[in-house]
Amino acid sequence: MTSFAKNLLNLCKRVYFKTVTYRLETLPAGVQSICTEFGLSPRTVKCSLCSFGGQHIVYIVRIQSAEFLCLKVARKESIHLEREAKYLSLLQGSPHFPRLVIDGSKKGFVVEEQVSGIPYSSHTKSLFRKNLKKVAQGLAQALTDLTSRHPAIVHRDIKMKHLLFDFINGRVVLIDFGSAEFEGSRLPNGRRSFYRKLGRRTHVFQPFEQLTEQHSQDRRIDVFAAASLLYSMIFDEFPYDNSVKGFEQSWEYYQSRERRIESRLSILPPKVARAFINALKADPNERSRDLWELANAIRETDF
Ligand SMILES: Nc1ncnc2c1ncn2[C@@H]1O[C@H](COP(=O)(O)OP(=O)(O)OP(=O)(O)O)[C@@H](O)[C@H]1O
Ligand SMILES: [Mg+2]
Repeated sequence: MTSFAKNLLNLCKRVYFKTVTYRLETLPAGVQSICTEFGLSPRTVKCSLCSFGGQHIVYIVRIQSAEFLCLKVARKESIHLEREAKYLSLLQGSPHFPRLVIDGSKKGFVVEEQVSGIPYSSHTKSLFRKNLKKVAQGLAQALTDLTSRHPAIVHRDIKMKHLLFDFINGRVVLIDFGSAEFEGSRLPNGRRSFYRKLGRRTHVFQPFEQLTEQHSQDRRIDVFAAASLLYSMIFDEFPYDNSVKGFEQSWEYYQSRERRIESRLSILPPKVARAFINALKADPNERSRDLWELANAIRETDF
């Protein structure tokens, strides 16, 4: 790699990952496992802080081959990290999820491929919008890959920063399986309070049944969230936006938004509008069970 390319890469990492380089002796335990796994001396491994996530600390580790790995270390025993390793290991082989490199979740860390995509955010919105067809197809396939497992897996936390898109090869990746569940499983006691604590931005992508936690382990939760992301790429607003004045997490609110969504969608070709309406139904019993109707309608349309 030329030094120009290296500088550019470092700059990008700084912008997207708030990179800070740490001294080797202060590195977390997982780095040692990476060294063993790849037969490397610790001196050849470079580690940077990526994010103080809500659930764990994320480091980007560069090994000798210039491959970037993503090391997630829990501050204490973490059910999120256990879920990350459990569901990622079941999803291996699909390009729509990160490759799991080391499952150290029993020891408090997980090492996975660092996906070289960028997250969907207000800064990258127009790039996602330009690649809407690819993003929609990738998301639909990702949801199919989740539900083709037995039992099916529900991600449950699809939101802007968990959707990565690699513009170079058109790869769509969903990250963070810390909230995932098998479809139809019952929530363990104590999860209710967890969802009350979720931030406003997450609620935007949650259907009503997930807020009330009835039927909340159903694939249609992910359909709703993924369709909300695609909707926001087109309209620059969220279909069920709780930042609007007078927002309440009530069934009446969801129903009133549903009517507004229908009128906004009338500017789109009828096939796309219908597919959005079906994927964004407030009532899960009326909602689509996958994203294909929507993704295919988008693919056939010239926006
Ligand atoms: N495999 C990966 N490849 C690239 N980036 C990743 C990967 N996993 C995590 N990240 C980055 O690290 C951030 C935090 O990771 P993650 O979502 O797993 O942790 P979290 O504790 O849930 O954090 P948050 O509460 O911010 O979502 C992600 O938003 C993303 O920017
Ligand atoms: Mg996360």
